[in-house]
Amino acid sequence: MIYNQWYVILESDELKKQKPLKVTRFNEKLSLWRDKKGDVCCIADKCCHRGASLSCGKIINGKLECPFHGFIYDNSGNVTTIPANGKNSHVPETINVRSYKTFEDYGLIWIWWGDLNKIEEEPFFFKELKDFSYSSFKDNWNVHYSRAIENQLDVVHLPFVHKTTIGRGNKTLVNGPVVIRENELITFYVNNIEDDGKTRPLKPDEIKDYKNYFHLQFHYPNIWQNFISDKIRAFAAFVPVDEENTIVYIRYYQKLINIPLLKQLMNYIGKISSIVILRQDKRVVTTQLPKKSSLKIDEHLIMGDKPIIEYRKHRQELIDSYFQDFNENK
Ligand code: FES
Ligand SMILES: [Fe+2]
Repeated sequence: MIYNQWYVILESDELKKQKPLKVTRFNEKLSLWRDKKGDVCCIADKCCHRGASLSCGKIINGKLECPFHGFIYDNSGNVTTIPANGKNSHVPETINVRSYKTFEDYGLIWIWWGDLNKIEEEPFFFKELKDFSYSSFKDNWNVHYSRAIENQLDVVHLPFVHKTTIGRGNKTLVNGPVVIRENELITFYVNNIEDDGKTRPLKPDEIKDYKNYFHLQFHYPNIWQNFISDKIRAFAAFVPVDEENTIVYIRYYQKLINIPLLKQLMNYIGKISSIVILRQDKRVVTTQLPKKSSLKIDEHLIMGDKPIIEYRKHRQELIDSYFQDFNENK
């Protein structure tokens, strides 16, 4: 896991107004709810009194009440009331659980995973998508989220995994791809062609007109988009559940059609085709071993895997820089 990052963890409409929600993210059980203003609160899902699951409790005046003995928690994870000691009794500050900073926009909920004194104001998002409408779905994958991400960076698999859908045409020869990383944003340009048995694939630096190619983007730690056209995009968030499980959120975005019923129909069709394509990926990706990828694993990557190589390299840099920072400030 890369620390000190905003991670998408949920879609907004999964967290209702009056009901706390229990989720597992980063191998931790978390309890989420909305306060009086509707803002998202997130604290550890284990009561500091005697260990009950807080998400089984109730929301009272925007705070969370433990279902066992009624301790009341605020959004900072502090206990503000211990009913058995009397409503007005003082609660020591040490009585608390861990809390997480949250951010909500674009119909998504993020949490900051890392040091609060390193917090960045808001997460990166592909802001242009605000002008699009979308449909979405989620799917559980039995893989570490790094494997799910790498699948969406994998330009070599198309004619094999998606033979019947987006990989039609037997375009097995992979030119490049050209990969550009600007800070935490990776853009990769793809040009797969049929193999006539005579042509060798172009190396990335031989491709000068790459800007005319089909392209996709990934932003650390866990979002991705595919520029299908100016007015159609596929978006994904790869949400880490634990070391071997990920929730993949996929959205089909479009701004071709804005007439109410027609728009819904188009978004529905987009969603169904995304599900078909993603299921083709899932069948293979969930068989990969090890379940988690890293820079130094026993794999023989090829030129076409350049986006994956770049992802692994920078992921490792981010992990290393966190630990370097941590050791320097010890
Ligand atoms: S276990 Fe939560 S109040 Fe007792
Ligand atoms: Fe795929």
